[in-house]
Amino acid sequence: MVLLEKDSANMLFSGIKPVNHKRINIKWMSLGILALTFYLVTKTVNFHILNDNEIDFTETYLKALDINLASNWSKVYTSGPHLAGKGTYLANFTKDKFEEYGAVVEWDEYEVLVSYPVDHDLNLVNSKTGKVIYKAPLKEDVIDEDETTKGNDTIPTFLGYGANGNVTAQYVYVNYGSKEDFLQLKELGIDITGKIAIVRYGKVFRGLKVKFAQDHGAIGVLIYSDPGDDNGITPAHGYKQYPKGPARQESSVQRGSTAFLGGVGSYPGDPTTPGYASRPGVERQDPSNAIPKIPVLPISYREVKPILKELNGHGVKLTDENWIGELEGFDYYTGPSKKHELNLYSYQDFNYTTLTNVYGKFVGENDDEIIVIGNHYDAWIKGGAGDPNSGSSVLLEIARALSELQKAGYKLKRSIYLTSWDGEEYSLLGSTEFGEYASKFLQKKIVAYLNLDDTALGPILEFLGPKSLLGVFKKAISKLPHPSGGSLLDHYLSIHGDEIGVLGSGSDYTVFLEHLGISSIDTKFGSNKTSPIYHYHSNYDSYHWMEKFGDKDFIYHGLSAKYLGLLALELSDSEVLQINLSDYVDDLIKFFGIVKDKIPKEWLTKTIDNADTWKNYLVTPFEEADLIQQSSSGWYMDTPYPFSELMQKQDCPVHRGRFMYDLDYHSNSSLLDIVQTTNQDLIDLKGLATIFDEQSKVLQVKWDNRDSLYFWQRIKLHFEIVKQNKLLQYFERNFLHSKGLHQREWFKHIVFASGRYTGYAGQVFPLSQEAIEDGDFDRLVYSLGVISKTFRRISSRISH
Ligand SMILES: *[C@@H]1O[C@H](CO)[C@@H](O)[C@H](O)[C@H]1NC(C)=O
Ligand SMILES: *[C@@H]1O[C@H](CO)[C@@H](O)[C@H](O)[C@H]1NC(C)=O
Ligand SMILES: *[C@@H]1O[C@H](CO)[C@@H](O)[C@H](O)[C@H]1NC(C)=O
Ligand SMILES: *[C@@H]1O[C@H](CO)[C@@H](O)[C@H](O)[C@H]1NC(C)=O
Ligand SMILES: *[C@@H]1O[C@H](CO)[C@@H](O)[C@H](O)[C@H]1NC(C)=O
Ligand SMILES: *[C@@H]1O[C@H](CO)[C@@H](O)[C@H](O)[C@H]1NC(C)=O
Ligand SMILES: *[C@@H]1O[C@H](CO)[C@@H](O)[C@H](O)[C@H]1NC(C)=O
Ligand SMILES: *[C@@H]1O[C@H](CO)[C@@H](O)[C@H](O)[C@H]1NC(C)=O
Repeated sequence: MVLLEKDSANMLFSGIKPVNHKRINIKWMSLGILALTFYLVTKTVNFHILNDNEIDFTETYLKALDINLASNWSKVYTSGPHLAGKGTYLANFTKDKFEEYGAVVEWDEYEVLVSYPVDHDLNLVNSKTGKVIYKAPLKEDVIDEDETTKGNDTIPTFLGYGANGNVTAQYVYVNYGSKEDFLQLKELGIDITGKIAIVRYGKVFRGLKVKFAQDHGAIGVLIYSDPGDDNGITPAHGYKQYPKGPARQESSVQRGSTAFLGGVGSYPGDPTTPGYASRPGVERQDPSNAIPKIPVLPISYREVKPILKELNGHGVKLTDENWIGELEGFDYYTGPSKKHELNLYSYQDFNYTTLTNVYGKFVGENDDEIIVIGNHYDAWIKGGAGDPNSGSSVLLEIARALSELQKAGYKLKRSIYLTSWDGEEYSLLGSTEFGEYASKFLQKKIVAYLNLDDTALGPILEFLGPKSLLGVFKKAISKLPHPSGGSLLDHYLSIHGDEIGVLGSGSDYTVFLEHLGISSIDTKFGSNKTSPIYHYHSNYDSYHWMEKFGDKDFIYHGLSAKYLGLLALELSDSEVLQINLSDYVDDLIKFFGIVKDKIPKEWLTKTIDNADTWKNYLVTPFEEADLIQQSSSGWYMDTPYPFSELMQKQDCPVHRGRFMYDLDYHSNSSLLDIVQTTNQDLIDLKGLATIFDEQSKVLQVKWDNRDSLYFWQRIKLHFEIVKQNKLLQYFERNFLHSKGLHQREWFKHIVFASGRYTGYAGQVFPLSQEAIEDGDFDRLVYSLGVISKTFRRISSRISH
């Protein structure tokens, strides 16, 4: 184990230093080339001796998982409180286990702002007399058979980053607290200014509920879980509550972060260090625009009942089904009632705390192409058997099986690194700070990031990410059976078809995909419509719940370790990376169709008055040096790329001519012309991606039959494969736009982002979709320029 020195200039995962490309002495270069040639010839000639594995990784890896220790690990990870920065004992446990399983262990630390609960109070008060009518206990019930609900170390109900305050005011029911909900209230003539907003969970990330309420003038917020959002698995439909049945325990409370994550102006990570790492001694920014200015509390549905009941008959009676929950004994009204007030008090300790991320590196022959599997270990409660510790347990199972695989003599090809993040819950803290700290290293070396979180909650296999990884995922899951019969692949196809979910935000992949342009996926076994209610961020997300309702016998935990490990091994083992570009482009075509459909018809014929936003973006000064540096290192941020000039030098029949466009042509063109240009760019890209994928296949086949090649042919093949793999590894980086999204500069990916008004759910081509939503014609034109440029750049890159 190595503890990184805090002030060391070295990056994590062994020293990363900026490379000086400029002065390389010619003499040394020649010597270097000689040595390299010698090395390569030796290595290439001996290929099959060095690289052939006698062992079939699938069989050996799966055999190790015949034993399932996930429940053992789950017990450990759910044994005590571990809020962000307070789970060091679990970080140490993870380190020890990684080390026991033969990984090279490292960890690092960040100093981040968090808030810990100190005190809270909530009273329903008679406005006239000031008499307290109802005092909310703000505590979840102790359940005899569930150890996690007992003891003096349970974590109070609170919302991370909620402001300190003691407010008394009338209150209003605002449904889910979405942007539309607040608009509708305005239309109904209900003013929230100076009031406390009562919001139910669902639809929108809770931080944005608070942000919208605050923006509309609310002075406090209560968020509760309405049984109406429990798919009918409720007492009203005859289901018993936990622990007697699958329905939600009526005292259960969802804790969580109220950072304004994903919203306009937001950035994940430490709210005091936007865009850079919270290493000791860094300069801090004012976080007040990133977190609430008003006090907030989460409550149970049992606690909200007497409160909402007093709104009965006050304000507007709600008849729209979308506004009515399933609480009984009163009708849903907006309020306010002049007769009643709420007194809401929340006090938290805001302080800088030390986060610890743990890394277990299974180093392969190729440590320049790394597959990372990551999961966080902090939780809002003592337990967290689902979130995140189904993931934590699976991560250890993967480590254990990789260790068995290596013990059996298997030589890992590309490295597989396992990471255990701290502080995900508050604002993706550990992963984001690390991503910001080691950005250059990660962009250079990572092939794919596979995210775990609430990994095993039910029988439905879910897979979100760029479609380029669907093929290899399908290959991995085709080798495993689903407990309900058939293969895991049959199961997946029967539910999702040949489709893959769109990533938004809400877990640790965010920095990898949306800031660094690293292909990332998020995958889990999720609930179906009749699964027991998952007590998210509540004391009842416990080992006992998991064992009794969530994943009896930890079957889906075990299966997760199997398919995830196989997926990582597939990515690690094949000579040519199994990343499929034409599949990716198929999704781009689908996504661009969504954008086209949303463009107002009357815009299409409009001439581009300000064509500069489109064409000037495309035509940027030629910087040869920059280009050479890019192609040598292969990865880059969005630097200017001169298509027209470059394409003239290329022998590229598909594109010859198309890039040498006459700029004047565009000065008169309509939006439709530009849309069609982008569309054509996309169609061209599809053609080239298909050819490129074909090359990948051919190269892999040649490799598999390399014994029949002369050594010089092998050398040639070696270089062809290296080049192909670099293009595959860095493919996702192409979608980064250095200026970032509109008003969300930190988010650089032009294809995937979270919706700015929902926080979690994915929004594709966000630059364009947001411009349309905002009625901003010029911004749409600009966004099409960015997109077109990206497509052309990729086309040029993969076609020579
Ligand atoms: C895992 O837990 C089971 C049941 O409690 C126990 O019998 C077994 O010894 C444990 N195994 C390990 C390796 O901890
Ligand atoms: C965790 O390990 C570190 C370093 O080995 C040690 O200093 C620290 O005391 C341990 N913390 C806990 C809570 O076990
Ligand atoms: C919490 O409970 C433990 C075990 O029951 C006890 O030893 C400890 O003194 C208690 N701590 C406090 C602060 O009450
Ligand atoms: C909060 O305000 C209420 C009403 O003004 C008051 O009764 C209570 O003592 C205050 N609580 C705290 C902790 O200051
Ligand atoms: C952090 O905690 C320390 C000790 O409890 C306290 O002295 C300090 O004022 C706190 N800092 C902030 C920002 O609250
Ligand atoms: C839904 O999931 C639950 C377990 O979470 C399982 O018992 C049930 O059979 C599933 N229903 C269907 C229709 O697959
Ligand atoms: C573009 O517009 C200008 C002025 O309106 C006109 O003179 C010119 O001929 C047009 N060019 C094309 C290619 O239509
Ligand atoms: C990529 O995907 C396409 C369509 O799904 C498939 O036909 C092709 O064989 C795949 N290519 C590679 C290299 O995986």
